[in-house]
Amino acid sequence: MTQSHPRISKAVIPAAGLGTRFLPATKATPKEMLPVVDKPAIQYVVEEAVSAGLDDVLMVTGRNKRPLEDHFDRNYELESALANKGDAERLAKVQESSDLATIHYVRQGDPKGLGHAVLCAAPHVGDEPFAVLLGDDLIDPRDPLLQRMIEVQEQHGGSVIALMEVAPEQIHLYGCAAVDTEDGDVVRVSGLVEKPDPADAPSNYAVIGRYVLDPHIFAILRRTEPGRGGEIQLTDALQQLAQDEKIGGPVHGVVFKGRRYDTGDRGDYLRAIVRLACEREDLGPDFRTWLRSYVTEEM
Ligand code: G1P
Repeated sequence: MTQSHPRISKAVIPAAGLGTRFLPATKATPKEMLPVVDKPAIQYVVEEAVSAGLDDVLMVTGRNKRPLEDHFDRNYELESALANKGDAERLAKVQESSDLATIHYVRQGDPKGLGHAVLCAAPHVGDEPFAVLLGDDLIDPRDPLLQRMIEVQEQHGGSVIALMEVAPEQIHLYGCAAVDTEDGDVVRVSGLVEKPDPADAPSNYAVIGRYVLDPHIFAILRRTEPGRGGEIQLTDALQQLAQDEKIGGPVHGVVFKGRRYDTGDRGDYLRAIVRLACEREDLGPDFRTWLRSYVTEEM
């Protein structure tokens, strides 16, 4: 792959979820707009896609998601107010998100699951491999995962999923992969199951929210019946790809050992903010000093 002509150029970001775990904050604000330190969670995800060379981004949204479109659009009123004040630093922050990428939007209509959200991207994606990034997983930019997955897809074809080893008692929260061969950080996936009971889990490899998918996935998703939770599961469609190479397989996994921050539930969201704030050059030093004394004196 040459950096200037990446074969995979499209990223799909499902963003239609209701965010009920964060009510009441998400009553009128999409969960993707909740700040992680001082940036909405979704901006980290778009930045990750762009730094992997994917500058055509499709967001699959739903009702009440207008703030997402506004965030990635220009805000002339705010920009001219900041320009008039000569506040170049904040002006750059406002413009950063609208200059990032070409962002397209499609509405999911009925929230019928992740597989259905991905299927909504079919007309935009067409017949080429594409990436899917789930907003609840933030991947630290210092541990580039998506670039590695794109490399593996270019080498092997088919689809590539991101895997992380988790404790057995955590596996019921994730899609889980059965793997047969291993070569460094790459495994061959022979089967997948969505959120298994720990007793039935084929491994402790959890699927985390990054995928590079062969476009055959669309045909499979069209005939995938609702699965776990009554939803059309992307994991179930990938299971078909993993089992039948002739229809768009194989499926490989990249085993990620880097830093991942889960913003999908409240406890993990708080931990993500604390960790990222501690590492920030501007906020980190003061925040760490405060945190240290808070932990020793108040807890
Ligand atoms: C989704 C997928 C699951 C995957 C997870 C990663 O589940 O269905 O296979 O492991 O994302 O974050 P969700 O967390 O949206 O329920």
